[in-house]
Amino acid sequence: MGDNIPVMTLDGPAGAGKGTVSRAIAKALGWHYLDSGAIYRALAVSVQDAGVSLEDIDGIVELAKRMNLSFESGDVPAVILDGHNISDRITTEVCGNITSKIAVYGPVRQTLLQKQREFRKAPGLVADGRDMGTVVFANAQFKVFLTASAQERASRRHKQLKEKGIDVSLTGLAKEIEERDRRDIERSVAPMKMADDAVLVDSSDMSIEEVINRCLALLDS
Ligand code: DC
Repeated sequence: MGDNIPVMTLDGPAGAGKGTVSRAIAKALGWHYLDSGAIYRALAVSVQDAGVSLEDIDGIVELAKRMNLSFESGDVPAVILDGHNISDRITTEVCGNITSKIAVYGPVRQTLLQKQREFRKAPGLVADGRDMGTVVFANAQFKVFLTASAQERASRRHKQLKEKGIDVSLTGLAKEIEERDRRDIERSVAPMKMADDAVLVDSSDMSIEEVINRCLALLDS
């Protein structure tokens, strides 16, 4: 379905800058944007609100089937779950950690597959996640694996939180990021890994503009 519509996938660990870079590329190209992490995070909110246990795979799958999710356009699209704006709730570290726990379940990932593929619409799509180039859009024409050192990712996140007036320990943050990476890499279903045909971009010592330009250059190669 829509296999000829161009897709650029950006996979990689939390804090590598995928969100900022993907949105900027989508804007520059006039393409659609899929924040697949937001779909998984919205499910985590739904699980919390319904009081479903994180071990109850069937219960989580049921919620994944039922959840009514939409994105409202904007620089950072608002996430609307069952009529409520949950944009603030999904960005917390707690939500990120719960999300990576429910994202290990194969049946949950299977249920969310179609929802993600529906974003492939003309004139093109920029898809941001962990398994965009390996599973969801394995036939994408342009694939990037964007990474940065765990230390650099933790300090970027620390700075972002500080700007929002939230003071957390940098060491604690680095530890959480490493734990989350481990869970995402070690899960048996659709683990975070670089697709064989992806281009590796390490953003540790690059500016956002440099990363964006490197990705856009793929379209001309
Ligand atoms: O990209 P993010 O930080 O919003 O992702 C939150 C969690 O969701 C991440 O720890 C793993 C999971 N996730 C996933 O398993 N597959 C995706 N395509 C996107 C996110």
